[in-house]
Amino acid sequence: MASLISCPLLNFLLISFTFLSLLLIKSHASEGRKSIESHYHTVEISSLLPASVCSPSVTGPSKRPSTLKVVHRHGPCSKHSQDKATPSLDEILTHDQSRVDSIQYKINPKIETDKIKIKNKKAALLVESGEALGSGNYIVSLSLGTPKKSLSLIFDTGSDLTWTQCEPCARVCYEQQDPVFNPTESTTYSNVSCSSTQCSRLSSTTGNNPGCSTKTCVYGIQYGDQSFSIGFFSQDTLTISSSDVVPNFYFGCGQNNQGLFGNTAGLLGLGRDALSIVSQTAQRYGKYFSYCLPSSSSSTGHLTFGKGGVSRNMKFTPFVGSQSTSFYFIDILGISVGTTQLPIRPSIFKTTGTIIDSGTVITRLPPAAYDALTTEFRKQMKMYPSAPAYSILDTCYNFNKYTTVHIPKIVFTFGGNVKVDLAFSGILIAINSSNVCLAFAENSDASDVGIIGNVQQKTLEVVYDVAGGQLGFAPGGC
Ligand SMILES: *[C@@H]1O[C@H](CO)[C@@H](O)[C@H](O)[C@H]1NC(C)=O
Ligand SMILES: *[C@@H]1O[C@H](CO)[C@@H](O)[C@H](O)[C@H]1NC(C)=O
Repeated sequence: MASLISCPLLNFLLISFTFLSLLLIKSHASEGRKSIESHYHTVEISSLLPASVCSPSVTGPSKRPSTLKVVHRHGPCSKHSQDKATPSLDEILTHDQSRVDSIQYKINPKIETDKIKIKNKKAALLVESGEALGSGNYIVSLSLGTPKKSLSLIFDTGSDLTWTQCEPCARVCYEQQDPVFNPTESTTYSNVSCSSTQCSRLSSTTGNNPGCSTKTCVYGIQYGDQSFSIGFFSQDTLTISSSDVVPNFYFGCGQNNQGLFGNTAGLLGLGRDALSIVSQTAQRYGKYFSYCLPSSSSSTGHLTFGKGGVSRNMKFTPFVGSQSTSFYFIDILGISVGTTQLPIRPSIFKTTGTIIDSGTVITRLPPAAYDALTTEFRKQMKMYPSAPAYSILDTCYNFNKYTTVHIPKIVFTFGGNVKVDLAFSGILIAINSSNVCLAFAENSDASDVGIIGNVQQKTLEVVYDVAGGQLGFAPGGC
């Protein structure tokens, strides 16, 4: 033994071996730590709370021409934030549930109607055909008419018709921030005739047969919560940016408008039906648009039409299912929390299908998937004190005593094995530092469609390649 060790070569080998194994152990350890770190977000509590000052995003495709700035309707970057009617989070979540109820109704009227019959009388008040707006929405500014007039519109991938309030407001216009659009002041404005193809398309776009008033086509669209817009179906020049001018754009010139539109001038419909802005600008932008929703209401995002400058990290999942509705369907294959893949049978998602929607605030999951998610999230968050449920959110924490917390990452796997790692702002929603909740909710019925809401989409660049039949995700969009 002694003679062996005294052999210089062996000695050298032994020492190197020890050194090598030390190295190996060390690198293993740091790999282990890295893999734990890569499955958690370190979150400053203050970053979850609303800020009172607007800090515009510095990333994103500001140099692309067909880009509009996106702001949260109720944040400091919006000129609408002075609204007297700024709703509380509780009200936003109540409106969100109305929107979800009417999406369920629109996708599956038969089932939903039967459910209402079985349920109670209260639910019948909630659901009308059409879609609710919700109110945790995002707005963009574009211009209409010649000379052009600027309008702030709620942007909505869950509906198709674009409309704005119009003079003379024959019945009712609610109060809005921008001057109300006046068709008599625009040299490019025209009414759409009752006999035109576009007029007949309103039936599928709005769910209501169009009317006719002295040869002018009349549209009517109602949303949940008794919000609606009725008026003349019209055409005028839509200006997205100085280099992006869309002549003869079809829109609703609203003469009777009531509901949850805040102080905005109306709505920009980004659905997949024939009259949406996506379809109307198909020749120009190839049915391709993208957006990034900011991490908080005090930051800004963007909405971009056309292909230019999309991130190389973009991963695409196919759109699936019916082409005939307004909605964008995708497949969820699985969800993981931290390092744990949730035990959810794929058939759970397959039965209901899933849509992605810019206007629903909180992601809705089938009950079995939601149970698996909250069970695992609670297990991994058990070191933090819990807080009472808030509205539709039932997994809440009291972070009063913390300045930073570690939360497990949540990764969705979509069709085509596309993995999307949610930003921390897409996982938690703060009422205040002593009540911070997991920003997911459960569908009331296993047959209801799943909905990827706008909280979960925050900071992601989301690409709608409608012509190519695919939806893209990339991190760090704004
Ligand atoms: C559009 O139609 C309405 C209703 O018929 C009418 O009052 C208005 O003058 C028309 N506008 C134009 C520019 O033709
Ligand atoms: C935080 O919000 C909850 C739920 O609305 C409320 O009960 C609680 O009093 C609030 N706490 C503080 C410190 O404002």
